[in-house]
Order: sequence, then structure tokens, then C-alpha cells
Amino acid sequence: SWILSDWIDGAVEEIRRRVGDDTVICGLSGGVDSTVAAVLTSRAIGDRLKCIFVDNGLLRKDEARSVMETYSSLNLDVKMVDASHRFLSALEGVEEPERKRKVIGEVFVRVFEEEASSIPGAQWLLQGTLYPDVIESGHQGKGASVIKSHHNVGGLPDFMRLKVLEPLRDLFKDEVRRIGSLLGVPQGFIRRHPFPGPGLAVRCLGEVNRERLQVLREADHILQEELLASGLYDSLWQCFCVLLPVRSVGVMGDVRTYAETAVIRAVESQDGMTADWARLPYDLLDRVSRRICNEVRGVNRVVMDVTGKPPATIEWE
Ligand code: XMP
Repeated sequence: SWILSDWIDGAVEEIRRRVGDDTVICGLSGGVDSTVAAVLTSRAIGDRLKCIFVDNGLLRKDEARSVMETYSSLNLDVKMVDASHRFLSALEGVEEPERKRKVIGEVFVRVFEEEASSIPGAQWLLQGTLYPDVIESGHQGKGASVIKSHHNVGGLPDFMRLKVLEPLRDLFKDEVRRIGSLLGVPQGFIRRHPFPGPGLAVRCLGEVNRERLQVLREADHILQEELLASGLYDSLWQCFCVLLPVRSVGVMGDVRTYAETAVIRAVESQDGMTADWARLPYDLLDRVSRRICNEVRGVNRVVMDVTGKPPATIEWE
């Protein structure tokens, strides 16, 4: 990995050269990309990097607390803002996938702007954009059509007049993970699967509200626990639950149930641009399915997605 350590030295130099004595602000998402971008940048300019972590209420179980612990172990200067009520009220009645992204993106910009304005003199915005993000958002060249508007690409409105710093934009995920390891980001954090910026909103099909998010969180948590225990976590690109607004009839004890459906979505991929569905062992699927139906009130049926990308996308929205 001497090549990657050279890359780090070069990137640190480049950040120092471009930023000079300026201050940089960064929106941390809880993911690997923004974290690695922040650790790299803090290596270059120290505490002139100011980070903001917005809890949008669309994170997984215990996620906000656990990522804040990681940030503090990495000595990043992070302010956490709990804005979940703002996101959830803006999402009321919104069901269409791109509308969800748009609403979430807009609330994020507003919250972030309020927070950023309390950091006077910042001239730069740091983003953890990777190469595939750049391509998939259609920012590359002519004729590229937008498949999904990844809201973490493209930055902020002009009035903020921040220059954008994207030190990872030539890299693929596996490179970012290796660079993160070299920079001392803990393994348990580095190995985490990608998680979309709009969070559970695009995995909670139909209406996004606190109750349904809670159901999805609990189901997904069971899947993650069983997957980690099976030793298969690292062999997958992503593996998560989706909650469908489709109710079916079931029986629990001798009581009829009429509840929603959880989907297991598991894929293998190199970069997220194409993917194959993962052949998870039947006994793992069985444990997950039983536990979800027994432990999560609000789900009485578990199904598995066996579609590749293409023709499907990895996320359901
Ligand atoms: P799709 O669903 O397009 O996903 O096959 C490809 C990869 O991108 C992630 N993804 C997103 N990431 N904002 C993000 O930051 C988004 O809106 C978004 N949509 C999809 C997805 O999790 C997968 O890794």
C-alpha cells in the first residue's frame, strides 16, 4: 500500500496548497466517505476543519450515537444537530422517490446553512464525493441522464459562496476504505456497507413516518445482527431491509394479522454501478425471517429480492 500512502501525502499537500489559511466546513453523514475526507483534511489543516453532523431522523438504529463516538475518537471537531422533526414533517405525505430526495436535500441545505453561518469566515465546503457518485448523478459529460439524484453530489446553493473541496472524487470505494485504514479510521467503521444520503426514507416505500421508520429500523437491525454473526457481512456490498406498504394476511398464535412486508435486499458489487443479488444461505434467511416476524410488530411477511442491477437498482427507490 505504499502507493496509497503516497496518494495520502499528495492529497494532504494539495489540500494545504488550495486551502491556505482558510477555514473548511464539512457535513459528516455518518458514512465512510465523508469521514475519510474529513480525517484526510484534518491531517492537512487541523482544527481549521469544522464538521457538522445532521441527524435527519432517517438513520439506522443507534447510528447517531455510535458515529459521534467514532468522530470523537478521530479527534474531529463535530457539532451534532438533531433536525429529525424538520425532516419528518417535510416528508409528510411525500411518497414519490425523487420527491423524497428533493425534500430531504432541501431541508438538509437549510439546516446545514443555518449551522454553517455560525462558523464565520469559512470559505470551503468539504465533500466526500467518489468517482461513481460523479458519474451516476450525470455530472459527467453530455447526455448522461440522471438515474437517481444522489443528494450528496453537487453542493450547496450559490449564495453560500463556498468553494467545494472533493479530495476523493477520483477514487472508488475500495480505495477509500484502504486510505481510511491507513489514516486510522477503525476497522469496524471502515467495513460498514454504503448507506444512502436520504437514509431510510428511500427504504421505507410509501409514506415515511416515525412508526414505519421504527418498524424498518428494528427489522434491519435483526438482519445486520444475523449477518455479522454469519461472517458474511464483508463479502457483501450491501445488505439491508426495505419496508413495503403492502399488507398481507398472516397468523400469529391463533390470531389473524394483517401487516406490512419486509424485503431482504443483499447484493455483491465492486462499485455499486452494477450488482448481482447475493445467494445468502437458506438457514441465515430462515433465522432472519423468523426473528423479524416474531420480534418486530408491524411485519408478518419477509421476502427476498432476487434482481440484479441492471435491470433493478440496488435501492428500491
Ligand atoms: P442504486 O440504488 O442507484 O444505488 O443502484 C447505487 C449506490 O448508491 C447508493 N445510493 C445513494 N447514495 N444518495 C446517496 O448518497 C442517494 O440518494 C442514493 N441512492 C442510492 C446506494 O445505496 C448504492 O450503494
